[in-house]
Amino acid sequence: MDQDTLKMQVAAAALQSVSDHPDELLVLGIGTGSTAEHFIQGLKTIRHRVDTTVSSSERSASLLREMGFSVTDLNAVPRVDIYIDGADEANEQLHLIKGGGAALTREKIVAAVAERFICIADESKRVDTLGAFPLPVEVIPMARSHVARELVKLGGQPVWREGTITDNGNVILDVHGLNIASPIELERQINDMTGVVCNGLFALRPADELLLGTPEGVLRLTV
Ligand code: A5P
Repeated sequence: MDQDTLKMQVAAAALQSVSDHPDELLVLGIGTGSTAEHFIQGLKTIRHRVDTTVSSSERSASLLREMGFSVTDLNAVPRVDIYIDGADEANEQLHLIKGGGAALTREKIVAAVAERFICIADESKRVDTLGAFPLPVEVIPMARSHVARELVKLGGQPVWREGTITDNGNVILDVHGLNIASPIELERQINDMTGVVCNGLFALRPADELLLGTPEGVLRLTV
């Protein structure tokens, strides 16, 4: 079974989880990336359950609007019932690395507001220790070199993702070579660097549920 089929499978499982929610009308947080896009494609099947959506990127917002869903500014919704998004890596504690698609800051904000965060991924994203996937860090452009030097002090090798500007007008450093034994501590340490907007570790606010697509079916992991 190929990776894309597994992504479709978890997206379908997430749609079922949303359908099972006890409230009739939902405010849904919608993430970014190929797995989230499979979820968006399927959302029309439960259109009657969606009050409105909030989106973690301009790309997902456009897709949602094309499909006839309303996309509301996060500041204008009273709550986000469920946030559905993919990940680049996930460990047993449901700590994640995200930001491969450069949407990490808005993703982290929607996750912070959401009552329930369901992460959807194919099984290749499951790891024992985070860090094989380079950790994305969103940085204010004028602080790029300063933050890169600080990240080297932590043992990482930051690489500027040239040509990428985030939806917030910032740049991304992808940090290679980190063996992330303490994700919560590292998330705080990187957040504390002057010039950092956000980093792609989702450990202070992990997923509540991880749906993993495997050839044997969808695994549901919670902590
Ligand atoms: C977007 O910035 C990321 O956090 C995505 O959620 C992550 O890269 C997963 O993407 P795929 O679903 O395309 O694997």
